[in-house]
Amino acid sequence: MKIAVIQGPNLNMLGIREQHIYGPMTLDQIHDQMKGSAEQNGVELEFFQSNLEGEIVDKIQECLGTVDAIIINPAAYSHTSIAIADAISAVNLPVVEVHISNIYKREEFRQNSITARSSLGVITGFGPFGYHMALISIIQILNEMKASQQLAAEQSQA
Ligand code: DQA
Repeated sequence: MKIAVIQGPNLNMLGIREQHIYGPMTLDQIHDQMKGSAEQNGVELEFFQSNLEGEIVDKIQECLGTVDAIIINPAAYSHTSIAIADAISAVNLPVVEVHISNIYKREEFRQNSITARSSLGVITGFGPFGYHMALISIIQILNEMKASQQLAAEQSQA
């Protein structure tokens, strides 16, 4: 099982940027924590961060046929990017969107996520722990999908 973790603009500045909102952890530290839980669950993770919308679209497209699911924090592009939302819909993979802060408690322009409409679910407001929650949720979803595919295959043979 392989999962891509895609991080949008300014998330490379975690640990420096607005610590009162995003906390002191760096992106590398968040990814290291995720690697720990991934290893325990026998899951492979692939990490990607970009400040550029088109690069994020390219990365989502590359996920088709190469990974089983995506965890994404599109950051500010969540609120603006129809291109990223379209890319998520196009690959038709299970996608969990994460926000470190609770976007519903913040400025009005952050309270709508365009990309979330294409995602399976959203985790917002739990700090960096949200990435761990996303990972556990997506593993559960992939296992359920595998089990129902196996059942369907067995039933078609019977
Ligand atoms: C964010 C919330 C966005 O509104 C903001 O632009 C970010 C980070 C979050 O993780 O809380 O860069 O996605």
